Amino acid sequence: NPTVAVIVVAAGSGTRLGLGQPKAFVSLGGRSILSRSLDALFALDDEAQVIVVVPEDRLDEALSTAQDVAGAAAPYVTVVAGGESRQQSVNAGLAVLLPSVQTVLVHDAARALTPVAQFEAVIDAVRQSGYGAIPGLPVSDTIKRTDGFGLAVATVDRSELAAVQTPQGFPRAQLEQAYAAASDDFTDDAALVAEAGFAVAVIHGDALAFKITTAWDLRRAEQVIESAFV
Ligand code: C5P
Repeated sequence: NPTVAVIVVAAGSGTRLGLGQPKAFVSLGGRSILSRSLDALFALDDEAQVIVVVPEDRLDEALSTAQDVAGAAAPYVTVVAGGESRQQSVNAGLAVLLPSVQTVLVHDAARALTPVAQFEAVIDAVRQSGYGAIPGLPVSDTIKRTDGFGLAVATVDRSELAAVQTPQGFPRAQLEQAYAAASDDFTDDAALVAEAGFAVAVIHGDALAFKITTAWDLRRAEQVIESAFV
C-alpha cells in the first residue's frame, strides 16, 4: 500500500486565464492541463496515492483523465470535489487519504510541467528530515514595497527571498494537525504548517514548475512542449 500521497488541486475557476472554463481543463498542446500535470505522478519510483480535487461537475471527466494517464488499472486514484478556496480543496483531499500514507504532497495542477525529479526530491527531503520541504527559486527581479498609491517606499532584500512552488511535502501528521488548527486562509500549505509551529525547509526548485496563471503563461507552456524540452 502506498506510503506517499499526492493531492493535486485542480478546482480553481481559472478567472485570470480568461478562457471561461476551469483552468485545469483548458487544453495545453492537445491534452488538458490536468492531464499534463498527472504525467509525473505515474512516473514516480514508488506508487503513490493520487488524489485529484476538481470542481463538482468535473468528477467523471477527471477520473477518466487520470485513468488514461495511468495507462492501466489505477487502484490508488481518488477523485473528489473541491471547495471555494484552495485551502478547502486541500482539506477535501486530506479527508480521503489511505491509512498507509505517511508523507503527503500537495501540488497545483496549474504547475503542469513540473519534472518527476522535483517530486522525488521533495519526497526524499521529507523522509530524511521528518519535516516539511518545499521547492523554491531565487528571486531575480528587484522587489519593491509600495504604499498603496503606487509609490515605491522600500526595496526588499531579495537575498532573503524565495519564490516557492509545488509540490509541497509534509509528514502526514503535521499537515493534518496544521489543517485542523487553521483559521485564516493561507496561500500555500507551508504557511499553514509553519503557523502550526513545524519547520519547513526550502529546497531547489525548477523553472519548469512555473504556475500557469495568465494567457502568457499558457503560451509559454505550449512553447516548452513544442520545443520538446519536456
Ligand atoms: O488560483 P491559483 O492559481 O493560486 O490556484 C492554484 C491551484 O489551486 C490551481 O491548480 C487551482 O486549480 C487550485 N485551486 C483549487 N480550489 C480552489 C482554488 C484553487 O483546487 N478553490
